[in-house]
Amino acid sequence: MPSRVVAPSLLAADHGDFAGGVRAVEESGAPWLHLDIMDGHFVPNISFGPQVVADLRPRTKLHFDVHLMLSRPDRFVDAFVKAGADRITVHVEAQHDVGATLDAIRAAGLPAGLALNPDCDPARALPFLEKADLVLCMTVFPGFGGQSFIPSALDSLRTLDGERRRKNLGFRLEVDGGINLETAARCRDAGADTFVTGTAFFKAPDRRAFARAMSA
Ligand code: DX5
Ligand code: ZN
Repeated sequence: MPSRVVAPSLLAADHGDFAGGVRAVEESGAPWLHLDIMDGHFVPNISFGPQVVADLRPRTKLHFDVHLMLSRPDRFVDAFVKAGADRITVHVEAQHDVGATLDAIRAAGLPAGLALNPDCDPARALPFLEKADLVLCMTVFPGFGGQSFIPSALDSLRTLDGERRRKNLGFRLEVDGGINLETAARCRDAGADTFVTGTAFFKAPDRRAFARAMSA
């Protein structure tokens, strides 16, 4: 199983001060920064785009974990590669040739991720597991930070972890939405190794201790 990683989400930072949000993540010792990109179409909210990612890039060595919540993620892979993404995740439910988009991300030299919404049958991800370096099981319906964890997502996690073992694959299993120390432990028990956390991270009184506990 891959090592445990915590990926604080910039979505929960002050959007008037993204640079400050990045500094807070760096100071916590977390190795990854999760970047939620929303188009107002695939999800009912708009966040920020490639220019923000490009402008943050020279400020930090954090690993940029880019999560595209876009109806046409295939049209934006190049833009986020150029902006400095270290990995890119796309949704299986979006309108694109999923296998071709995963191939395009890898062809650009980055690890490719495949995301599933909480109500998505994990069987839809199975044909693509060999093309994925990460599978993201959403633990809320994407679009907004601060929502409550959906426990039924644990079933998808268990299924995907089972497939990972059965086929001896090395993809990361990431969770995103309503993740705090308690829900992270439940996800870890179901096979997750990569933990996105927005609200709980930015509200934590001691972010360094929180980040350490998340990846323990
Ligand atoms: C939801 C986003 C999440 C979000 C998680 O659409 O994909 O990454 O930032 O935030 P919290 O931890 O607040 O649920
Ligand atoms: Zn996300």
